[in-house]
Amino acid sequence: MRGNKISILSQRSLLLTMIIATMVKSVPLNYGDALTKSILFFEGQRSGYLPASQRMTWRKNSALNDGSDINMRMDGGYYDAGDNVKFHFPMAFTTTMLAWSVIEFGDLMGPDLQHAFEAIRWGTDYFLKATIYPNVVIAQIGDPNSDHSCWERPEDMDTSRKTYVVTTTKPGSEVSAEIAAALAASSIALSKNDGRYSRNLLLRAKQVFDFANNHRGSYNDSIGDGVCPFYCDFNGYMDELVWGAAWLYKASNDITYWNFVKSNIQSLGPLTEFGWDAKHAGINVLISERVMNDPSNQNPFISNADNLICSLLPNSPTKAVTYSKGGLLFKLGPSNLQHVTSYSFLLIVYARYMQVNHKTVNCGNVVAKPADLVNLAKTQVDYVLGNNPLRMSYMVGYGQKFPQKIHHRASTMPSIDVYPKHIKCRDGDKYFESQSPNINLLTGAIVGGPAEDDSYQDSRFNVTQSEPTTYINAPFVGVLAYFKQRNP
Ligand SMILES: *[C@@H]1O[C@H](CO)[C@@H](O)[C@H](O)[C@H]1NC(C)=O
Ligand SMILES: *[C@@H]1O[C@H](CO)[C@@H](O)[C@H](O)[C@H]1NC(C)=O
Repeated sequence: MRGNKISILSQRSLLLTMIIATMVKSVPLNYGDALTKSILFFEGQRSGYLPASQRMTWRKNSALNDGSDINMRMDGGYYDAGDNVKFHFPMAFTTTMLAWSVIEFGDLMGPDLQHAFEAIRWGTDYFLKATIYPNVVIAQIGDPNSDHSCWERPEDMDTSRKTYVVTTTKPGSEVSAEIAAALAASSIALSKNDGRYSRNLLLRAKQVFDFANNHRGSYNDSIGDGVCPFYCDFNGYMDELVWGAAWLYKASNDITYWNFVKSNIQSLGPLTEFGWDAKHAGINVLISERVMNDPSNQNPFISNADNLICSLLPNSPTKAVTYSKGGLLFKLGPSNLQHVTSYSFLLIVYARYMQVNHKTVNCGNVVAKPADLVNLAKTQVDYVLGNNPLRMSYMVGYGQKFPQKIHHRASTMPSIDVYPKHIKCRDGDKYFESQSPNINLLTGAIVGGPAEDDSYQDSRFNVTQSEPTTYINAPFVGVLAYFKQRNP
């Protein structure tokens, strides 16, 4: 007994030492500031005519003639990352995740909610154009090979702005179904903001889903080297079809979509991936909201979602990700922070549903409560914002120390305001190769992030580390809103 007491005491003092150590080490974080910036970032990615309300003013109108090669007006939308291509597949996923962020956490966003609405609408206005003709979906604009061979401002582009289209004979079920998901999710997110517009989005979502489902095929084959190896659909289009149906069900309550989800979920298997290509884990978490308290509990959604949680928790026996010494989640593949932000989102959303239903998750002998999921997400958010071995934030313009040389064309070159003359294809190289920080601050951009040893090379050449993308940021918008209200 005595021995026990001593060990408990020493455990306590050890714990106390650890708490003090983390208190001393940690950087104070401002989730509200990070939230504002995470949304502002999307203004820096805008293509087309910029509105008078544009806050990131170093960016100007660009790519105004997009679509002219097929006699369509396709100005607008978002540039994907550090290049100037409009890849509609990841753009649609980005829009879906912005919408989901608002659906779950919009009421916690305060004055930023209006900007979040605008960010969604910048996507949906564009997708309404891309789907204006029945049985045709504009799948991408800009030839990636041509784009990547230049380092140009979007405002100067003279690369090939080829338009890629999918049709009934050259189908693209993944890109079409993801656009349907984006339109359906946005119709929910914007329903209180603009009812008429929201109903219009839902109507279009149904049409686009039918096209995706009735004319099945991968845009890999229909578009070929326009999309591969850039945003190849690696794991097939069934996940997008089920995901699209799940969003349509949530938006419309139409049982047809629920039946589609139920009869096709088994074909996806228990994959725990979630990102622009794989929607599996997102489907299960999304559907779990409805079926968690289902007494028959014969659905696979809850067990699949539980498997996801068990694949993430650091002390779970079925953990399928790794954690760096500094505590950052890692999963194979480039731009690691895309996994960090999207999994953090799912952790918080699932924790909320668990809370409502008084549910816990069993991972072998480890029992996880909602708070465990939230705490894990918090360690990830805090790492991204500065509580990491390098004491740096991975969000541009946030905190004292952040990436200075991000791989992003517009951000490296002077604004048209400062240098109105055309900068030709390879004349941008000197900005790319410069040892100086980027000229324009792409505020709020989250980069690909550090290596597994927690090191970060602040270099434009290190693309997987220093390039931001829209789908790294989108789920983080919701996550930051959650932590802002929890810990203002
Ligand atoms: C798309 O192409 C990639 C790369 O070649 C391949 O791995 C994947 O299986 C293809 N997907 C489909 C749905 O054909
Ligand atoms: C990027 O930087 C990391 C160190 O943080 C290094 O391990 C990796 O090899 C670099 N990649 C490239 C392409 O330079």
